[in-house]
Amino acid sequence: MTDTPRLIDPFARAITYLRVSVTDRCDFRCVYCMAEDMTFLPKRDLLSLEELDRMCSTFIGLGVEKLRITGGEPLVRRGIMTFFNGMSRHLDSGALKELTVTTNGSQLARFATDLYAAGVRRINVSLDTLDPDKFARVTRWGRLEQVLKGIEAARNAGLRVKINAVALKGFNEDELFTLTDWCAREDMDLTFIEVMPMGDLGDDADRVGQFWSLEDLRGDLATRFTLTDLTENSGGPARYVRLEETGQKIGFITPLSHNFCESCNRVRMTCTGELFMCLGQEDNASLRDIMRASPEDNAPLIAAIRTAISNKPKGHDFDYSRQQEDGKMTRHMSHTGG
Ligand code: 5AD
Ligand code: SF4
Repeated sequence: MTDTPRLIDPFARAITYLRVSVTDRCDFRCVYCMAEDMTFLPKRDLLSLEELDRMCSTFIGLGVEKLRITGGEPLVRRGIMTFFNGMSRHLDSGALKELTVTTNGSQLARFATDLYAAGVRRINVSLDTLDPDKFARVTRWGRLEQVLKGIEAARNAGLRVKINAVALKGFNEDELFTLTDWCAREDMDLTFIEVMPMGDLGDDADRVGQFWSLEDLRGDLATRFTLTDLTENSGGPARYVRLEETGQKIGFITPLSHNFCESCNRVRMTCTGELFMCLGQEDNASLRDIMRASPEDNAPLIAAIRTAISNKPKGHDFDYSRQQEDGKMTRHMSHTGG
């Protein structure tokens, strides 16, 4: 499979990064992500662990070098360590350069050592606040204590932790420096994410009202630190600065801006095996049934992946500029993966 041509989209972007949601379920109910009374997908719709392995292995055979496992909360998927352990073989062969995970941290105390043993070296932990009451409010079901213990376990296991904080106006604006100082002290990278218009969340999530522009956040940071733009480009929506006073790296993920589409190197797969070529577009290819219909022969799946990639759009349509959620996606983040 190694000599098959790699995945190149119509805009000459090589697709080397696959993000896979392994479950739409989560043990939290963050207000910007889920409604409290979510209905989850029936199990038969999800890719089985074996199907996840086959799907990811096929992408790796086509040149994907980085795999990020997301959800929902990936670590609540039953048996998920079997999948991680399976992916180790691609790290061992050198085909896969990085296996990583985005988690809410709740299960890390249980799984950190296993993740490290499977070859995971870096993880992203979503954490918006260091205040236990605010944490309970924003996650509805989460406990800060459990996540902090999880982060500690991860670091003890040898995993490098990056904190992802969703920037929420009137919620964690006052924690900009608390979060920054904490990450500096603990030697963790920190990335702020602009809230995205995803899914139907119920009345307690007025997302336009919660929008805290990272432009403004950056300005606030600059009142205390000297910011130097870093040129490194992850091929995604993150931009990085270095704080000269502490040397720490801060990332800004602004999915509502278009400034990253031209270097986009990634596609996303939902837990039901739909391939989304762009986070901000509805176009998708359903790969699950094609794969299921052909258990022995991978050629139809490969052909479907190639066709899908050949339709990867140039960019997306999110736009808050008219104070309404233009380009809003009807699907939930937990379905597609963040
Ligand atoms: N906007 C921005 N980030 C979101 N996440 C979930 N929903 C949204 C949203 N609507 C983030 C989580 C986590 C990652 C998986 O996606 O906080 O960092
Ligand atoms: Fe769960 Fe993450 Fe969504 Fe929060 S943002 S409900 S932790 S999937």
